[in-house]
Amino acid sequence: MINIVATKPFDDQKPGTSGLRKKVPVFQQPNYAENFIQSIFDSLEGFEGKDLVIGGDGRYFNREVIQIAVRMAAANGFGSVIIGQGGILSTPAASHIIRKYKAFGGIILSASHNPGGPKEDFGIKYNIGNGGPAPENVTDAIYARTKTIDSYRIADAPEIDIDTIGTHDIGAMKVRVIDSVADYAQMMETLFDFDAIRTLFKGGFRMAFDAMHAVTGPYAKEILENRLGAPEGTARNFVPLPDFGGHHPDPNLVYAKQLYDDLMGENAPDFGAASDGDGDRNLIIGRGIFVTPSDSLALLAANAHLAPAYKDGLKGIARSMPTSCAADRVAEKLGVGLYETPTGWKFFGNLLDAGLVTICGEESAGTGSDHIREKDGLWAVLLWLNILAVRKQSVAEIVTGHWSEYGRNYYARHDYEAVETDRANTLIKELRDKLPTLVGHGINGLTVVSADDFAYHDPVDGSVSEHQGVRILFEGGSRVVFRLSGTGTSGATLRVYIERYEAADGDHTMETQAALSGLIAAAEAVAGIRKHTGRDKPSVVT
Ligand code: G1P
Ligand code: ZN
Repeated sequence: MINIVATKPFDDQKPGTSGLRKKVPVFQQPNYAENFIQSIFDSLEGFEGKDLVIGGDGRYFNREVIQIAVRMAAANGFGSVIIGQGGILSTPAASHIIRKYKAFGGIILSASHNPGGPKEDFGIKYNIGNGGPAPENVTDAIYARTKTIDSYRIADAPEIDIDTIGTHDIGAMKVRVIDSVADYAQMMETLFDFDAIRTLFKGGFRMAFDAMHAVTGPYAKEILENRLGAPEGTARNFVPLPDFGGHHPDPNLVYAKQLYDDLMGENAPDFGAASDGDGDRNLIIGRGIFVTPSDSLALLAANAHLAPAYKDGLKGIARSMPTSCAADRVAEKLGVGLYETPTGWKFFGNLLDAGLVTICGEESAGTGSDHIREKDGLWAVLLWLNILAVRKQSVAEIVTGHWSEYGRNYYARHDYEAVETDRANTLIKELRDKLPTLVGHGINGLTVVSADDFAYHDPVDGSVSEHQGVRILFEGGSRVVFRLSGTGTSGATLRVYIERYEAADGDHTMETQAALSGLIAAAEAVAGIRKHTGRDKPSVVT
């Protein structure tokens, strides 16, 4: 039986950089999740009888919302839903399953790298049939619908057993519970030289992978240990927990500190990596050397041809605007296009679909390729392993060799978290107003060559996305970028991205914060961060 339940709109359901993210208690309000899910369905056309993929990163409230989404999918006329066992699908695995089974789309329950638990974060994101995040015209339509919604549809049905692989019926709709890992692992085998990586491990190569008690645990166990023969224990913290063990499942130097310390310590493994809550981010550390995500993107692009999937070369490279320009030099050398997009994976979808780019990346530890339409943490780790297996050099040798060829982009991001929203908005507004006066002038002895509020013109569909971040470029290829986060759940987060270029024959041995100190001072001088935020230092530096 189908129930049509009367409801009232909530005024805070605007999807951000990556879907709707709120604290769990907000999602637990009566009708809150239902309203948003119905608004998604109401914004789509032609899904009757088609398949919907549903999965999540296993965080607190995942299982409850899966049950709701399944019954709502049945009441709205989907032909079937495909669910990962236990409600688990990493974001990249969900993207792959949408594509592989030609589903109409998918609902991914995750708040990515944000903490989980009864008082922490939850999220709902819709992905379209290409496997990628819904583009802005869809998220705008969803938001518009959340403001007028007056009812939702939900089927009367008993709870579905999502822990056992198998099929069920809810009225005319089929429910298929599938293995969360198998399809993904199989695809990885087609992309990379698993024999070469197996030989690497057989030769004593040591790796540590930190799954951070999040979704990649079962994927890493199966792929690294079972299929590639890495010793047991290579995957750490591999059991997904609803609260990620009380930790912040964000693979950066702050939250994956243990891994970092191990890689910098005595008797360090050869290679360290980690992934985030939903498995789309990656952290790469070699013995004694951290690889910035921006450098990792450039390195993967420069070496991708060593893996079977990319042996014929790349079509092009895309990076988000705040990501360092290291990949630009690789694109130039390869003679392929370089596309600069706003922050958020959704902007890569059109470029990938149109065959303009093969590899994409963001400074926030996201890299991926045209194999799916999401960033993919384990993919990046496996491409690194494939490159290490073929080149037979250490991570440090590969990275420093890259700098001597292309130059080094020193890079850091300073985050000021939970700033009062009004104060953060004023900072950005004052900065925007100042932009026309900056060019040609010096800030702390650095000459500004251009300053703008980044607007993206999508070359595929012609759409324009404005106000995507203030960027100030200095002579010599250095720059600072300011933007407000679109994924935070309390107050505003100011992100300041700082980059300094040292040419191939320059000094590549400086400590990053020291190399950037002049630019950090210039960022403060031009934006008045202290005055506006009331903070004298960033809360997180990555
Ligand atoms: C952040 C990152 C961005 C990434 C997004 C989703 O968004 O900066 O690169 O795509 O998370 O993982 P932000 O909070 O900056 O809007
Ligand atoms: Zn994520």
